[in-house]
Amino acid sequence: MMPTQDRPRLDPVTARAVIDPQSYAEWDGLLDTFDHIRATTPVAWVEPQEAAGEGPVHPPFWLVTRYDDVMRMSKDNATFLNNPHSVVFSLTEGIEFAKALTGGSEHMVASLVTFDAPIHMKYRKLTQEWFMPKNLRGVEDEIRGIAHAAVDRLLAGGGEADFVKTVSAPYPLHVVMQILGVPEEDEPRMLTLTQQMFGGSDEDLNQSGMKDLPVEAITQLVAGAVKDFEAYFAKLTAERRANPTADVASTIANAVVDGEPLNDRDMMGYYIILAAAGHDTTSASTAGAMLALARDPAQWARVRADRSLLPGIVEEAIRWTTPVQHFMRTAAEDTEVGGQAIAKGDWLMMNYVAANHDPAHFDDPRRFDAARSPNRHLAFGAGAHQCLGLHLARLEMRILFEALLDRIETVDLAGEPARSKSTFVGGLKTLPLRFTAA
Ligand code: HEM
Repeated sequence: MMPTQDRPRLDPVTARAVIDPQSYAEWDGLLDTFDHIRATTPVAWVEPQEAAGEGPVHPPFWLVTRYDDVMRMSKDNATFLNNPHSVVFSLTEGIEFAKALTGGSEHMVASLVTFDAPIHMKYRKLTQEWFMPKNLRGVEDEIRGIAHAAVDRLLAGGGEADFVKTVSAPYPLHVVMQILGVPEEDEPRMLTLTQQMFGGSDEDLNQSGMKDLPVEAITQLVAGAVKDFEAYFAKLTAERRANPTADVASTIANAVVDGEPLNDRDMMGYYIILAAAGHDTTSASTAGAMLALARDPAQWARVRADRSLLPGIVEEAIRWTTPVQHFMRTAAEDTEVGGQAIAKGDWLMMNYVAANHDPAHFDDPRRFDAARSPNRHLAFGAGAHQCLGLHLARLEMRILFEALLDRIETVDLAGEPARSKSTFVGGLKTLPLRFTAA
C-alpha cells in the first residue's frame, strides 16, 4: 500500500475550499474548485492543515469528485461502509463530541444512514413501502392542502416576499411533521431539537443558540435534546400502538425486527432521521427550482401553459442544486477508486456536487436544462442507502409548483439570493421574489 506521504494531494488553498463552509455559500467559485480538482486529482487525499497552523483539524480523507467513481462507490455497499466513521464530514472536535455523547460511536444517533448490512435492510424495509408512489397517493390531498396554504402566505405578501422564509422552508417541514404524526403546535419544538442536534454552521439558519457556547455546554444541550426527543416520541409511540393510523409513525411504532419490536433508541433514531432528512433538503431543491424559473420568465410562462414540462423542471432542479453535498464512506478492505489505491479503514467523501457537475456525464453542467435527458444525477445517492424519501421529495415539489403555477402569473427576482454556509446540506437561505397573482 502506498505510503501516506505519496498520496496525491490538493494544494492547501484548494483543500481549505473543500472543507470550509464559507466556500459553499459561493456556488460558482465552489464549482470552479471542483472542476479543477476533478480534472487534476479526481481522487485526492485531503490532510488537515493544522500542522501548518492554517486550517481546522479534521481526520484526513479521500475526496472523490468524478461521477463514475461516486456512482461505483455508492453501489458497492460491501466495500464502502457507512461505519465505523462519521457518515458526514466532521471536524475532529465534532467527532469527539459525538463519541462523548454516545459512549464511543462517531454517529450522534443510530439510524438508517449509520447501519450497514445486514441490519440496514431489515430497518429500511420497515418503511420502504410507505414511501413508495403507490402509498404516497394516499397523502397527496393532504400535501396539496399544505402547498396551497404556503401559496396563500406568499400571496399575502402583496407582490413581494422571501420565497425561502415564506414557502420553501416551512412547506416541507410541515409535510414531514404531518407524515410523522407530529401535531402542528409541536413543530417549532421539533425544529429546535433537530437544530440543536445537527446545528449547521450558518448563523442565520441555526437558531439553536449554540454558536458561542463552550463544548461542555453544547454537549449538555445536545444530550438534553436527545432526552427530549426520546420522551416526545415514546409518548407518540404509545399512542400509535394503542390507536394505529396510516401515518409513518404508526408503521415505526408497530414495526417488528427479528421478532422483536424496536427499542426506544432505535425508534427514536428512525423518527429523527426522517424529521431531519425530510425538510432542509426539499426546501433547497424547491428554492433552486424557483430561482431557475424566476431568472427565466419565458420558461415560467411555458410551463404554466404545458404542465408536462414540470417533472423535467423538478428533476433538473434537484441535480442543479444537489442539496445533500456529500456523504462519507469507510473502506472495508484495501481497494481502489478510479485507479487510486485505497487502504482498509480510509475515510472517503463522495462529493455529489462535483459528481453532478461532471462534464463527462452532463453537457454544460451549470446550465439549468429542464429538457435534460437522461438526467441520472446522484443527488439522491445510489445503491442500498439511496434516499428513502426521493418519491416524496419529487411529489412535494410537483404539487407545490402546480399550486404556484395555477395561482401566480409572473415571477421575477426582487433582489440577490443568498446561499447557506454549510458543507453538508446546503442551498438558498433567501430568495427575494416579485410576482403577480393569476
Ligand atoms: C438518504 C438526498 C429528501 C429521507 C439520502 C441520501 C441522499 C439524500 C444523498 C444518501 C444516499 C446514499 O447514501 O447513497 C435527498 C435529497 C432530498 C431528500 C436531495 C430532497 C430533494 C428526503 C425526504 C426524506 C428523506 C423528503 C423523508 C422524509 C432519507 C432517508 C435516508 C436518506 C431516511 C437514509 C436512507 C438509508 O440510509 O437507507 N437522501 N433526500 N430524504 N433520505 Fe433523502
